[in-house]
Amino acid sequence: MHDFKYKNSRLYCESVSIAELAEKYGTPLYVYSRRTFLDHYRKLRDAFKSVKPLICYSVKANSNLSILKLLVAEGAGLDIVSGGELFRALKAGASPRKIVYASVGKTAKEIEYAVKSNILLFNAESLSEIRMINNVAGRLGRKQAIALRVNPNVKAKTHKYITTGHKQNKFGIDIKTAKNIFLNRKDFANLDICGIHIHIGSQIIDARPFVKAIKKMIGFAALLKSRGIILRYFNIGGGLGIIYSGERPQTAGEYARAVAPLLKKLKMNVILEPGRFIAGNAGVLVTKVTYIKESPGKNFAIVDAAMNDLVRPSLYEAYHEILPVKTRAYSSTGNIRTYDIVGPVCESGDFLGKDRKFINLEEGDYLAVMSAGAYGYSMAGNYNSRPRPAEVLVNGSRAGIISRRETYKDLIRQEVS
Ligand code: LLP
Repeated sequence: MHDFKYKNSRLYCESVSIAELAEKYGTPLYVYSRRTFLDHYRKLRDAFKSVKPLICYSVKANSNLSILKLLVAEGAGLDIVSGGELFRALKAGASPRKIVYASVGKTAKEIEYAVKSNILLFNAESLSEIRMINNVAGRLGRKQAIALRVNPNVKAKTHKYITTGHKQNKFGIDIKTAKNIFLNRKDFANLDICGIHIHIGSQIIDARPFVKAIKKMIGFAALLKSRGIILRYFNIGGGLGIIYSGERPQTAGEYARAVAPLLKKLKMNVILEPGRFIAGNAGVLVTKVTYIKESPGKNFAIVDAAMNDLVRPSLYEAYHEILPVKTRAYSSTGNIRTYDIVGPVCESGDFLGKDRKFINLEEGDYLAVMSAGAYGYSMAGNYNSRPRPAEVLVNGSRAGIISRRETYKDLIRQEVS
């Protein structure tokens, strides 16, 4: 479900015409629906209400301050993976007691920043990291709560770059090592090792691998309990898939029905870390056709957005639906043509969509690249010295800039010459 719909052949975000936004703010332009963000957050919260989880929105999916503030005001906690994300989370007014911190490579400096900020939990991913957190906490005279990110060794059917819970991935600690760490927890005088964390991957549309991993971890928690180790936190990560094109992902309700009863029995604090589920379908990338180029083998619509603005198609061969912002009338004499929608960046991998059918595109047309709310702007860069686009948040019939378009000056701001 999302709030991008056609009315009289024009695409709207909530009650605002996307063409009008494109005219006003220029393109490429990210447009987000406030209502969709909130709807998705509430869907998950309501589905899991029997376990009253702490829902830590995964900042990496879309880290704009206004988006973080919106979710924080709704009661969300935040899942962070870097000092930069911690900075954003605090700027957004998140309670540090609702911040959890994963990442395989937290530096001493980042750890210190997080300990001093009084975050709820680190999700520790290796023995070396645990030693490091222990040292830093000791130096600061603190006792720090941590969960172990356990690698449950399950295969989640998703793109190989976004699977994280298999033994060949760099994430988490294998069960055997995790068990030893729990059993020897007294070695870490400055730590309160009090939870288990898993995150098996992203864009997972089948609940079974989640259920399998969670069941494995419930077994693990039971084993620890039999050794006198009582845990307080059980973090099941994020990873819920969304609809990009005809997928049938498990709904929040289906997911909750499969796992909430199991979690309830554990009597631990449950944490969820959804990113894409909340943000993915809450945003689109609006772009304008600069040129139509007809080559012998292909028609290209060369647009003003590129892989630096939305890298998912280039990086994961991800499919994003691309819709005209204003539809043209279909003619039975045949005005449907097939195009590759490509950007101006000097790479053959710079495409947003391949072999897409449209009723004749024309130069100047606006297109909306759908489902770009998660891992869109947050993965954007400046390759080819392209300033990053502006971001606009729509709320009913109102819209406002939440990140201004970068300027050429922004591109060289930190350079020294
Ligand atoms: N928790 C942890 C520890 C994570 O590493 C991630 C995502 C999440 C939660 C949120 O996952 P989500 O609910 O959004 O699936 N750039 C890729 C996705 C990378 C996901 C990285 N970790 C993409 O565009 O598909």
